[in-house]
Amino acid sequence: MSLIVLAYSGGLDTSVLLKKLILDGHSVIAMTADLGESDGVAGQRAADELERVRQKALALGAYDAVLIDARERFVSDYVMPALHANAKYQGVYPLSAALSRPLIGTLLVETAKSFGATTVAHGCTGKGNDQVRIELAVRALDPALEVRAPLRESPMSRPSAMAFASEHGIPIAHSLAKPYSIDANLWGRSIEAGILEDPWNAPPEDAYAWTAAPEKRPVHADEIVISFQLGLPSYHGLVGAAMIAALNAKAGLHGIGRIDMIEDRVIGVKSREVYEAPGATVLLAAHRALEHLVLTRDEQRFKALCDQRYAELTYDGLWMSPLRDGLDAFNAVCSERMTGDVRLALQNANVTVTGSRSPFGLYDESLATYGSGDTFDHHAATGFITLHGLPLERLARQRQLAYTT
Ligand code: ARG
Repeated sequence: MSLIVLAYSGGLDTSVLLKKLILDGHSVIAMTADLGESDGVAGQRAADELERVRQKALALGAYDAVLIDARERFVSDYVMPALHANAKYQGVYPLSAALSRPLIGTLLVETAKSFGATTVAHGCTGKGNDQVRIELAVRALDPALEVRAPLRESPMSRPSAMAFASEHGIPIAHSLAKPYSIDANLWGRSIEAGILEDPWNAPPEDAYAWTAAPEKRPVHADEIVISFQLGLPSYHGLVGAAMIAALNAKAGLHGIGRIDMIEDRVIGVKSREVYEAPGATVLLAAHRALEHLVLTRDEQRFKALCDQRYAELTYDGLWMSPLRDGLDAFNAVCSERMTGDVRLALQNANVTVTGSRSPFGLYDESLATYGSGDTFDHHAATGFITLHGLPLERLARQRQLAYTT
C-alpha cells in the first residue's frame, strides 16, 4: 500500500485504473490537467466539466483529486517553442498530444512532491507514444520516482474495461458510443481507432468535432491578421490560450486543420491518425510566412534541418533533452526579429497568406522591382554567374577533352 499520483482524464481507462489501484489497497491522488481541450470550441465540453471529472475521482474513492489549470503554462512553455520551431512531425502533424505529455509528466512529479508520494501512474498502453513521453519526462525530472503503467502490465480490452466499469459503478460516458480514442488540448484534437484502423476507410464526418463539414462551411473568406512581437503571436488583441481558443473556433468554422496521415510511432509501428488543429494550422502558416520575410536564406536553410529534428525529438519523447535547449537557443536568436503582421484568408479548408510586413523585413522593393526605380546592379550578375558556374564549366571542359581524345 502506497500513495500514488495518477494522471486522470476521467475517461473509461483511467477511471478503471483508479478503481483497480484503490482495490489493490493504494491511496490514489487523481491529477487532472486542464489543457484547454474544450475552450472556444462550440459543442465541446464546458469548462466546468473538468470539475466534474475531479468530483468523479473523489466519488470513485480517490484519496484526493487535484485539477490543475495548466493552459497558459502549456502555451508559453510548450506550444510557443514548438511554433518557433515550425514543429510538424513528418511534415504534417503539429504534435498536439506529443507536446502535452512532458507537461503532464512534470505535473505528476510536482503533485507527487507536494503530497510526499513516491509513485506516479498513468493509463497509457504499451503500444503508444504517450507512455514514452510521460515516463521520460518523469525520469528526467526525478529519477527516484517509481512510475507505474498498469494497463501496460496487464492490458485490458475495451469490453472487459466496460464490464469492470459497470460492475464497480463507474459511470460510462455517452460519448463512448463513438468508437474512437480521442485526445485533445488547445493545440489540437487526435482521433484514432475504430473504423479509422483500416487506412482505406475515409474518416467519417462524426470523427470531427472542431472543424465544419464541407457543406457547412461559409462560402465567403474570412480575413484575419496575426501580429507577432518577438515571435509571440496575437490575434484580435488576444494572446496565449485565449488566442488559440479563438483561432480554433474561427478557423474550425472554415474546416481548416483536418489532417489524415499514416504515422510512424516511436515503438516502430505505423498507425493511422486523424487530427483537427485549426488554430495550430493558422499560426504555423503565419509564423512561417513571417520567417520568409525576416530571416536570411542561410538561416532558413539551416533552420529547416533544425525544425525537423525539433519535431522528431518532441514526438520521440525527448522534450527534456539538452538538444532541445540548444535548438530553442537558436530559435530565440531568430525570434529577436520575428516582429510583424501576417494577413491570412480562411476559406473552405484552406488558409492562404495574403500579405506580410515587418520592421525587420529583408524584402526591398527597389531591389525586387521589375518596374521603374530599380536599384539592383544587373551587371554584377555577370561576374556572379561566371564564378558560381566555374566548377561546372571546368567539368564540362574536362569531359569534352575526354571525348575527343
Ligand atoms: N498519435 C499521436 C501522437 O502520438 C496522438 C496520440 C493521442 N492519443 C489518442 N488517444 N488519440 O502524438
